[in-house]
Amino acid sequence: MSDLLTLLGVSAAIAAGLWAWHHWHYRSFWLVLGYPLAAFSVWATWRKVALGCGLTKKRQRFWFTTVPGLVASTGVVRVKRKFQRIAVDTRPFMWLPMPTRHGWRVTIHTLEGQIPADYAEVAERLAHSWGVHAVRVSSPRPGRVVLATTMRDPLVKVADLPASTELLKVTVGKLETGGPWTIDFTTVPHWINAGATQSGKSNLANALIVGLAPQPVALVGFDLKGGVEFTPYAPRLSALATTRTECATLLDDLVTLMADRMGVCRMAGARNIWQLPPAVRPVPIVVLVDELAELYLMADKSEKDEIAKTSTALLRVAQLGRAFGIYLFCCGQRIGSDLGPGVTALRAQCSGRICHRVNDPETATMTLGDLDPAALVSARAIPAETPGVAIVAGQDGQWYRARSFYVTEQAAEHAARTHAHLAPSWDEVMAAQPHEIPAA
Ligand SMILES: Nc1ncnc2c1ncn2[C@@H]1O[C@H](COP(=O)(O)OP(=O)(O)OP(=O)(O)O)[C@@H](O)[C@H]1O
Ligand SMILES: [Mg+2]
Repeated sequence: MSDLLTLLGVSAAIAAGLWAWHHWHYRSFWLVLGYPLAAFSVWATWRKVALGCGLTKKRQRFWFTTVPGLVASTGVVRVKRKFQRIAVDTRPFMWLPMPTRHGWRVTIHTLEGQIPADYAEVAERLAHSWGVHAVRVSSPRPGRVVLATTMRDPLVKVADLPASTELLKVTVGKLETGGPWTIDFTTVPHWINAGATQSGKSNLANALIVGLAPQPVALVGFDLKGGVEFTPYAPRLSALATTRTECATLLDDLVTLMADRMGVCRMAGARNIWQLPPAVRPVPIVVLVDELAELYLMADKSEKDEIAKTSTALLRVAQLGRAFGIYLFCCGQRIGSDLGPGVTALRAQCSGRICHRVNDPETATMTLGDLDPAALVSARAIPAETPGVAIVAGQDGQWYRARSFYVTEQAAEHAARTHAHLAPSWDEVMAAQPHEIPAA
């Protein structure tokens, strides 16, 4: 009896110890215990899993099989074992799984006729078979597929990462891979940020304001929510438009400014403002737009001309802005073609795409375009309990799940007030076009 109690006590102590280790230092627990067990079980069960997910192919192999032999006088069928060539289900070759921060990654040699999309299609089946949160498929080179698993959703809790110190580059959150989620206007100049209400769009704009406020850039706000979102950040904004008429005027200014900058570049023989001597280089401008759809919505026919004008001006900014240091970040609940051809053309110019939680599949499709269908499935699966989670498509053509850091309005307001002295006035921005280019 006492032996049994001792055994129970020891087991309980071990279980408690393991639980505490898992709870307090998950990384070492995962590397020392979790990963080797997971790797072994994945390896041992790969044949069954591949068969279940339809990733095997029939191949002729010599195999021991059992064949019915003679029927004995007793009526019992005697079974004979025979070594013969038969069609066998062969699994794709799998390397040893390697541990990653949130799971493991394994390289697989595709079988003849297979493409990475075959694996992406069954990613959810693989995730269920292995009991992991998600499986992502990529292909580093032809004939190889890398399956990267995450054991738990790494985006449930997102701690701050160090801020980027480069111009026009802001670390706004964390990618599912554990890496930083960076919005870099120098590589991707224009962005679309879509999502249902309360999905985290404004939070991302706040993160951008906090990141850009200390940088030598001019910030411009178009707040079609009547100014409720961006007015508190007015100290750091060089211009703010809150009605459609104000938007039209400000867009006209931006188009004029672009034409001026074009002239300066032409005079200096530069292709863009970054090729100008630093002394005459105009300040880069980041234009933040909230509730983009409001710019295109028509209450009655009398607004038609005004909408057409703003839509054309915004499109021109998107088309030519990059070279002349004007960058767009457009937020909206819906960015659909039903808003008119202007919005479709604008979307085509915005290569940066961010899709927060959406209510309807069309918004995801319109935001993420013809990206991998798995990205659309992922966008639709974002739960309401995790605002700030988004599918991001950026510079490398890949898509990622990511979550923005939580940046309160107070934090953004504080940053705007602290760096208010760095905001050039709109008149300064408009006037600062040199008429002579000093020799470099
Ligand atoms: N990354 C995040 N982490 C934690 N909470 C977040 C995050 N992003 C947003 N939230 C929470 O979700 C709420 C809604 O976010 P936000 O205001 O950015 O949504 P929205 O998409 O702009 O909504 P609306 O369309 O109504 O303007 C915020 O008040 C905040 O509490
Ligand atoms: Mg908002």
